[in-house]
Amino acid sequence: MSENAITPTKLRVLVPAEKIKERIEELGKQISADYKGPIIVIGILKGAFIFMSDLLRVVELPTRVDFMGISSYGNSKSTSGEVRLTKDLDMSVEGLDVLVVEDIVDSGVTLTYLIHLLSQRRPRSIRIAALLDKPDRRMRPIKVNYCGFEIPDEFVVGYGLDYAEDYRHLKDICVLES
Ligand code: IMP
Ligand code: MG
Repeated sequence: MSENAITPTKLRVLVPAEKIKERIEELGKQISADYKGPIIVIGILKGAFIFMSDLLRVVELPTRVDFMGISSYGNSKSTSGEVRLTKDLDMSVEGLDVLVVEDIVDSGVTLTYLIHLLSQRRPRSIRIAALLDKPDRRMRPIKVNYCGFEIPDEFVVGYGLDYAEDYRHLKDICVLES
């Protein structure tokens, strides 16, 4: 087998695609109702790319899109505690309403770093939309304004989330069982 081959692993569906779709429609309505004007949506690469693209299509507001790359993990299943900016924004957020879109909030280390960085650029507001939240694992207090699903402390993949860069393409959110 080539060394790039995906190791076959057992996957258990935690949140099926239909439930994800339904919940994102609800979040879209809530976000559309909460803001009056345009927003700038910042997707956190890479995990948020699928959630972001589905969410944007159900938010009825004028929207600008940008991305930030943050890396904290390497290839392990828990945070290294070290956060690195791998891609900065292309646009200024000064005076704008910012919606950060993240795949999952785990320890909260990544978002704490990011919010600190973004606040220095004087946006009018910053809110967070996260597809998943693992509140049991929190090390830093983070308020998620729009949360898709709270999940137990299990490592999940699919719908954008990876393990060592694999499984992002799965349509369901699955628990990776070893
Ligand atoms: P935090 O800094 O510990 O909150 O970690 C947030 C980041 O860790 C997320 O953006 C994910 O990239 C990654 N992460 C945390 N838990 C999981 C998981 O269960 N599956 C895949 N990635 C995860
Ligand atoms: Mg991430």
